[in-house]
Order: sequence, then C-alpha cells, then structure tokens
Amino acid sequence: MGRVVMKAIVAPSILGCDHGELASAAAGLEKDGADWIHLDVMDGVFVPVLTFGAGVARSICSKVSIPVDAHLMVECPAELIESFAKAGCRYITIHPESSEKHIHKVLGSIRELGCSPGLALNPATPPDIIRWVADLVDLVLIMTVNPGYGGQKHLSSMHSKVRAVRRILDESGREDVLISIDGGVDSSNAGKLVDAGASVLVSGSYITSSSDSALAIESLKVTR
Ligand code: DX5
Ligand code: ZN
Repeated sequence: MGRVVMKAIVAPSILGCDHGELASAAAGLEKDGADWIHLDVMDGVFVPVLTFGAGVARSICSKVSIPVDAHLMVECPAELIESFAKAGCRYITIHPESSEKHIHKVLGSIRELGCSPGLALNPATPPDIIRWVADLVDLVLIMTVNPGYGGQKHLSSMHSKVRAVRRILDESGREDVLISIDGGVDSSNAGKLVDAGASVLVSGSYITSSSDSALAIESLKVTR
C-alpha cells in the first residue's frame, strides 16, 4: 500500500469580511473551494473585540453545506455552546484561558450536544493540558497569534508546539484528532505547519484580502 496523501483542510475565517454580508461571504468562500468556514466569536471581554453570536452563526450555517467551525473567544463558553450547536455548527472550540473552571466537563457537553469538541491554546499556554482531554476532543486549535484581531504576524515559534501536541495526541492513541492552526497562516508557512502535524489551516486576511480567494484557498491545500 502506498502512502496516503492528505491535503490540508482549509478553513477561511470570515472575520475580515463585511459583517453585514457574512452569510453570503461564507457561501462565496464555499464556492471558491473552502473546506470549512471558521467563525471567530468574540465577546468583548476575553478579547477586546465583540463580533457576533449564534443568530449570525445560524444564518451562515443555513447558507453553506461545508462544516462550520465556531471558535469561541469568550469568557463563559458553557453558556453559549448550546445556542451554537442549535445554530448548526459542527465544531465548537473553547479556550482553557477563559473563566470556565470545568473545561473537561464543557468539552463533554459539546459532544452531548452532537458537535465535535475542540480546545484552543493561546500562545503562552503549554501543550501538556492536551494529555488530560485527549479522549474528549476531535480538534486542538493552536493559536499562532494572540487572539483578538485578524492580520497579525504569524508566530513561527509555535511550530514546536504543533509537534508537541501531535506527539501527545499520538501517544494517547488519538492520531485521528485534527490539529488546527489559527493566526497569520499564508502560503509561506502552510507547508511547514502541515509538516509539523497540522491538518486544518484557518486563514483570514490572506484569503479575504486577496484579489482571487479561490487561488489563495488552493495555495493552502498543501499535501503531506
Ligand atoms: C484571531 C482569530 C483568527 C484570525 C485569523 O483571534 O482567531 O481566526 O482572525 O485571521 P488571520 O489569518 O488574518 O490571522
Ligand atoms: Zn479563530
């Protein structure tokens, strides 16, 4: 049997799109070849910016047939997961740096709601936490910028964290868990990220400010 060639899953973030037209922007990105749509949900407390809630997520989910990946940058994720699950999001990712004290429990609740649970790690958060939730998650999101804004410089110092998380997941028997990278992803770092163990590349400004988003999406579909 030959080696299975896997292409990176490309998940455009619609953070930089016109917020009056988010559902049609998402539908356009699906047409342009996006594999998933990434929603940056910000509550103005966990990060200074306030974006949108489950109502907007619902209208986006109704306009696309690809998976919608909700990244909750919020202080109280437990209060929001049900509304994002009901809105139709496939993946719901929460942060251990939020004020939620029972991350392990909330990841289980996301699964009970019929969604795939994800855990996102801020740049200064060590990877070891993944060992203790490896049986609960379908996705680990590694932040390669500090959360809050699109268009920031990619932190390549996080690439060793990608390798460390991949190792922890493999040692825990969870080779199937997806590692997603979020922040400053473009065609210059996509190959290195996939080599380090990433399967999902979230990309905002590189795709949405490009003059040809289909070409930008294609350029991130690197193989490993
Ligand atoms: C940052 C968000 C990211 C970001 C991606 O808080 O989680 O999804 O907006 O945008 P770029 O690719 O421009 O860094
Ligand atoms: Zn994000």
